[in-house]
Amino acid sequence: MKNALGAVQSALVLGGGSDIAQATLRRLVSQGCRTVVLAARRPDELADEIDALKHAGATSVTTVAFDALDTASHATVIDSCFAGSDVDLAIIAFGVLGEQASLDDDPEAAAELARANYVGVVSSGLAVAHAMRKQGHGTIVVMSSVAGERVRKANFVYGSTKAAADAFAQGLGDSLVGSGVHVMLVRPGFVHTKMTAGMEPAPFATDPDAVADAIVNGLASGKEVVWVPPALRWVMTAFRHMPRPVWRRVSASR
Ligand SMILES: NC(=O)c1ccc[n+]([C@@H]2O[C@H](COP(=O)([O-])OP(=O)(O)OC[C@H]3O[C@@H](n4cnc5c(N)ncnc54)[C@H](OP(=O)(O)O)[C@@H]3O)[C@@H](O)[C@H]2O)c1
Repeated sequence: MKNALGAVQSALVLGGGSDIAQATLRRLVSQGCRTVVLAARRPDELADEIDALKHAGATSVTTVAFDALDTASHATVIDSCFAGSDVDLAIIAFGVLGEQASLDDDPEAAAELARANYVGVVSSGLAVAHAMRKQGHGTIVVMSSVAGERVRKANFVYGSTKAAADAFAQGLGDSLVGSGVHVMLVRPGFVHTKMTAGMEPAPFATDPDAVADAIVNGLASGKEVVWVPPALRWVMTAFRHMPRPVWRRVSASR
């Protein structure tokens, strides 16, 4: 249950090792969040993250094995995260970028990326929503991306999965109005994390701390959509309305 000031006291992250999610958790812990569950493919590799969160003030940081691709396990794994106590906030942070050039020649790898980034969000998002509806409150943060707002040929498989996950999260949020459960979409541009290591930064590039600040501020003000940085909202509005031939040229030069 959030405290009297509305601050998150317990958080669950699906994709627990995500740099953006870890930065967000550090902010939340500094504001009073005490219980954290990290759901990750390789929970044994999160010792440093656990130490950092405990050092920042979390009293309980636990892990659970979670694979976005293993949709059959999602309901059980997620229910177990709600078994001991309420979860105020769930961040759906897992994601895979992939390399478009390799995916072009590997339909099976592209399908697996789509299963993680979209099907995994659908399955885990519904499981979290079910558990939060039952407890009567909670916020689900879904990590979307500007890549889904107008898909570029340079990463269209990833972009299409983000577009689909974003649409799903919007619908999920609408379906939960009145239930006590809120969904907040986060649409960052390029963020310097493990996911983008070694890549040429795009315009408006930012870092996990800036995304974390935007998430925490968005939670405090009950936002439905957060753009990081905010200017990307207007940039993407312009991009979305560009004729396709113009967009092909513009997106190729970014
Ligand atoms: N970085 C950016 O520029 C950017 C921009 C916009 C949106 N986003 C989105 O923000 C979210 C967080 O990304 P990030 O930048 O923080 O990248 P990150 O540090 O690479 O985090 C991604 C996380 O997803 C996990 N993951 C991948 N496949 C998984 C699976 N099948 N099951 C469970 N976990 C899985 C990874 O776990 P492993 O350690 O096991 O691989 C990793 O912890 C993603 O959804 C991403 O698409 C990122």
